[in-house]
Amino acid sequence: MCGIVGYVGSEAALPVLMAGLTSLTYRGYDSAGVAVLDGSTLQVVKCAGKVADLAARLADSPLSGSTGIGHTRWATHGEPSDVNAHPHIDTRGDFAVVHNGIFENSSDLRERLRAQGCLIRSQTDTELFAHLVSLHYRGDFEAAVKAALAEVKGSFALVVASRFHPSTLIAAKLDTPPLVIGIGAGEMFVSSDISSLMRFTKRVVILEDGEMAVLTPKNVLVDLFRAEPVVGRRRPANERVLSVDWPADIAERGGYPHFMLKEIEEQPRAIRDTLRDRLLEDGRVAIEDFTLAPATVRRARRVIFLSCGTAYHAGLVGQYLFEPILNLPVQVEIASEFRYRQPVIGLDDLVVAISQSGETADTVSAVRRVQERGATVVAITNVIGSTLSRVADHVLFTRAGPEIAVASTKAFTAQLVAVHLLLRYLAQYRPHQHEKLLYQLGLGLRQLDGVVEQVLQRTATIQAFAAQLASHEDVYFIGRNLDEPIAREGSLKLKEISYIHSEAYPAGELKHGTLALLSPGTAVIALATQSDIYEKMVSNIQEVLARKAWVTALVPEDESELEAMGVGTLRVPRVNDLLAPVPNVVTLQLLAYHCGVARGCEIDQPRNLAKSVTVE
Ligand code: G6P
Repeated sequence: MCGIVGYVGSEAALPVLMAGLTSLTYRGYDSAGVAVLDGSTLQVVKCAGKVADLAARLADSPLSGSTGIGHTRWATHGEPSDVNAHPHIDTRGDFAVVHNGIFENSSDLRERLRAQGCLIRSQTDTELFAHLVSLHYRGDFEAAVKAALAEVKGSFALVVASRFHPSTLIAAKLDTPPLVIGIGAGEMFVSSDISSLMRFTKRVVILEDGEMAVLTPKNVLVDLFRAEPVVGRRRPANERVLSVDWPADIAERGGYPHFMLKEIEEQPRAIRDTLRDRLLEDGRVAIEDFTLAPATVRRARRVIFLSCGTAYHAGLVGQYLFEPILNLPVQVEIASEFRYRQPVIGLDDLVVAISQSGETADTVSAVRRVQERGATVVAITNVIGSTLSRVADHVLFTRAGPEIAVASTKAFTAQLVAVHLLLRYLAQYRPHQHEKLLYQLGLGLRQLDGVVEQVLQRTATIQAFAAQLASHEDVYFIGRNLDEPIAREGSLKLKEISYIHSEAYPAGELKHGTLALLSPGTAVIALATQSDIYEKMVSNIQEVLARKAWVTALVPEDESELEAMGVGTLRVPRVNDLLAPVPNVVTLQLLAYHCGVARGCEIDQPRNLAKSVTVE
């Protein structure tokens, strides 16, 4: 949450900061601000609202200067307001700070700093850091920031500017919030993500946990501020430079009205890329740099999927796939709950942590807990260099490309493909009797991009249905077997994007309570694509029809029984049942998208939400 950007060089800083903030808005968008140094003058402009509101404020009086920091916020401490927007300054306005994350000891600090005479203007924890730096400052900027860092607890990324050092920025990172340094020629950048840097430089250094970086136009020095040894490791950043080969406009919309639609349409490519060079001709799987040893696979007695939000639904799909084929017990856990339980975990547990961003604080913390208890952790993540990818024992990267819209789409389908790849990898080292099924699934996986293309061609039909659904205020999604997690995902997409109240249930569970809520006209979307359980699903649909609900069924294209019963249908391509989640979810993504558009909602930045949740 929250997007951080910084620039130090010889060009005007403001356009760089504004471009960076625009591509970082997915990280938070309730307020935004910049601080630019013009010589020893520190100028701060910030406001509640979006980056466009900030741009409007700056239009009349653009700030000059070639060093600056910027921020787009997702509120944690203090409501979204002008005064709570970042950057924050100390009493005299000598230092400015932008910050992502939380200082856990902010209440104590606030009292102490107030007692010491600091003028505290906002409700944020961030502002306290500016005061701490100021109190520690004796002419050495780096020493002051380091001393301030020693006083804060929590999980954070931050960047500090000072009017006493107009050609220096200091960045620091602890725990989950990411920070990436961009190396230019005579200029340096810092940002919360790699993709926002691509229009400026392809050379990046990912800041590690407990590190701070001192950026000047020609140099970046990385040092530890936490962990042992605290002294003696000033590694020049150029020893750790990664070259990232992404197009400059990767964080831009490319002519689409919304990132979400762009990302939905990118799914055939995301699927192809995630499979590329991994699913071999003979059906075996080879995953680059994947170090999970056959002996560990053979020793596994249980698989636990750990994740949050949409990624949790990928774990639920995994359970339906892994249990029958690997003949292993499988648990699927919401990380934010699991990390506070006292789960029984052992050396024979294989934990699969799924996270698009690789930053979700609850997922990362849960992973650390299971590692302490000896479990082996495989991460499925979309972001190279993310915290999860570094903490996990083994990593399988989805290759969906940067996902900007808050509602996850292409990352989810790439996660489903990765779950299939992992299934096949594990099956290679465990005895099973499902060669034929795996062979068929291998063929199906290779055709999956084309199947998604077919769904995308049905957009007009889905859009027409969305126009009808958009007038409803309550929607229930039901499904069984592998349709059940996708019912959940379809429901989540709809509520995120269109703000329609929506819930998902296993179809057989409806009669244990929720049926009481159905009245004539209530919208029900029934997923009926699992052949084994199809007849049971038809019975559930009849129960709903008997209450005069407005039912629409998702059915394979060659299925006509429900239509004959007078049920409206949305047709999906017929695929192997175990691959049906992919075309089904793409259909429901398009449905949510067009409902949101019909209702005039903010598609890419739904209210109150953020893309990556680096707080608990
Ligand atoms: C946020 C996003 C969701 C995402 C969830 C988990 O809530 O809005 O789209 O599914 O976080 O994120 P992760 O990056 O761990 O997959």
